Amino acid sequence: MSDPNSPKILHEYPDGIQEADEPMPSWWLMAFFACIVFAAGYYFWYEQFAVGKPQLEEWRDDVAARTKKKGGGEGPTAASLLALAQDSSAVGEGKTAFAQNCAACHGDKAEGKIGPNLTDDAWLHGGNPEEIYKTISKGVVEKGMPSWEGTLGGGRVQRLTAFVLSVKNTNVPGKAPQGTSAAAAPAGAGSTKPAGSAVPAASASAAPAASASAGK
Ligand code: HEC
Repeated sequence: MSDPNSPKILHEYPDGIQEADEPMPSWWLMAFFACIVFAAGYYFWYEQFAVGKPQLEEWRDDVAARTKKKGGGEGPTAASLLALAQDSSAVGEGKTAFAQNCAACHGDKAEGKIGPNLTDDAWLHGGNPEEIYKTISKGVVEKGMPSWEGTLGGGRVQRLTAFVLSVKNTNVPGKAPQGTSAAAAPAGAGSTKPAGSAVPAASASAAPAASASAGK
């Protein structure tokens, strides 16, 4: 006890074991508390408020950005979008993003509300993969369709396109067809075929209604 360097003894047990008062070094405690603060910040940033993108999404955006760079900045190709429409995890993510961002105007099942029905074969701005991608990323702002590339990023717009391609031609009952049907527009009509789980008979019945509203 008389040695100033020996620790203070808090308790002495009957068997001779002593409990000394030696706190953790302060650098260690600092690091420990910093970890707790970091963990809380991390949790709110990624999990609670989802400000930060999940790793998978960050990676996909990265890949999309690199692909775009390689392809001369022209965005995804019809082939890459059609391939994405066959990828059920990408379509699933597109579906979630659709429910969050698009359903208010296009309906839960994309059957149309303020915005057109996206499940028919009639399109105001074209039903080819690249045209759909372009409509979603750039929007038709003067007609009330927002531009999404800034808000959602190219990767998510691609997954939304994949989702729209997956519901295209499924003819969910809803808003009447608007625009030109693929059957009536020879240009590019063939190239959209692989995407649709198409009901061939339906395009015939949709065509008269489409041409009726095409002149609006
Ligand atoms: C504020 C309402 C609104 C929201 C939200 C909205 N849209 Fe639209 N969308 C519209 C309107 C209105 C049109 C029709 C534009 C026109 O008449 O030219 C449209 C058109 C479209 C078209 C073209 C349809 C065609 O016939 O060519 C696609 C594709 C589309 N929207 C996809 C989406 C997706 C995907 C989202 C979500 C990321 C979305 N929209 C969110 C209102 C909306």
